[in-house]
Amino acid sequence: MAMPDTATVTAPASTVVVDHPLIQHKLTLMRRSRTPANEFRLLLREISMLLAYEVTRDMPLEMIEIETPLTTMQAPILSGKKLCLVSVLRAGGGILEGMLEILPAARVGHVGLYRDPVSLQAVEYYLKLPRDISERTAIVLDPMLATGNSAAAAVDQVKAAGCQSIKFVCLIAAPEGLKVFHDAHPDVPVYTAAVDSHLNDHGYIVPGIGDAGDRIFGTK
Ligand code: URA
Repeated sequence: MAMPDTATVTAPASTVVVDHPLIQHKLTLMRRSRTPANEFRLLLREISMLLAYEVTRDMPLEMIEIETPLTTMQAPILSGKKLCLVSVLRAGGGILEGMLEILPAARVGHVGLYRDPVSLQAVEYYLKLPRDISERTAIVLDPMLATGNSAAAAVDQVKAAGCQSIKFVCLIAAPEGLKVFHDAHPDVPVYTAAVDSHLNDHGYIVPGIGDAGDRIFGTK
């Protein structure tokens, strides 16, 4: 039976599909197998900047008094928790670059996870988070939310470090992964540019983009 290219199942309510035309256009260019690594990286950086805009949409503001060259005024500045971007190695680095362009003051953490090719379970090999992550909002970054196991394991670590305000950002999610992730972390919203059709037997998202790390770093 032919599968549709994008999910027909309803994504969990905590999923935000960022369907801005610029993002959708750039994602189509990324999906093409003939797109070379340098263009792929640039497109991912550009999409990540647009995702950064959406994931920070609810950041609180407070009014302060400032002086313009003409007068004083009450003007809005960001208030509330500061941010920590948590990149899931290695492909998370592709999103991190664009996010940092928009959010240069954010702290950065890294979680090293690889997917066991047989069990498809996440195996942790590295963890470095800012000491004060419990006082920050963490935005966890991984381009592909496939089985959901790595994403859930990364968020486990961020929660274990005391952080209670967490969002997850990816480029493409699979319906299966969204369910696993949502069951593990119903309090963590997922921001994604697309929800694709399904996972194949090797845990790859279809139609997807292939192996995100290989396409970012040209290691295929
Ligand atoms: N990781 C990837 O890089 N691609 C997939 O399709 C699934 C997991």
